Amino acid sequence: MSQIAEAPVGASVHDATPDAAPRIERLRDFVVSFAEMLDAHSSEADVLKHGGALLSKLVAVDDWLPEDFAQPDPERYRQYLLHTDSRERFSVVSFVWGPGQSTPIHNHTVWGLIGVLRGAEDGQRFRFDQGNLIEDGHLERLERGAVETVSPTVGDIHRVSNAFSDRTSISIHVYGANIGGVSRSVFAPDGTPKTFISGYSNSRLPNLWDRSIAGR
Ligand SMILES: [Fe+2]
Repeated sequence: MSQIAEAPVGASVHDATPDAAPRIERLRDFVVSFAEMLDAHSSEADVLKHGGALLSKLVAVDDWLPEDFAQPDPERYRQYLLHTDSRERFSVVSFVWGPGQSTPIHNHTVWGLIGVLRGAEDGQRFRFDQGNLIEDGHLERLERGAVETVSPTVGDIHRVSNAFSDRTSISIHVYGANIGGVSRSVFAPDGTPKTFISGYSNSRLPNLWDRSIAGR
């Protein structure tokens, strides 16, 4: 796992204008560009590089995520499916972290891109060493606007937490599969794996495709 983009500084990260309609066309443009990028690139390294650049652009502006897909849950973090490619080559998910919420230690089994849209995240990587699950590097703070990668090639096991104990954080994840249906693992601290399939928190998706309104 590696961070491929630092958080943009100052004026390049934007908040939504209060009460403005979500600029959902940003997400539509992103998924169209992402599919075109996958048509042009097949190696994982290229996908992470070029896909990371697209995600960096998407999370640089916080004015497009509809409120329904930004709602935290008091019990545990939420994962809202925003889009799946029709060939399930990739999926886009908003992870919404309530104050202090955290994932278990888990893997993905496919490439993934993580971009912070709101707030910040703390990530701790792990790896197996002679059968033992050990921390791989230090806890890393992923600031708003930053993008990092995971995959079985670059490092696939981590635990992610909301960096804040008093507010919601939101990250946008892109995976090389319909991630909610992928069989993967959570790990006990001693490395014992347990199979899980995450599913999604939502049963309805945002409508990216209504072009009847000017500008959308
Ligand atoms: Fe993860």
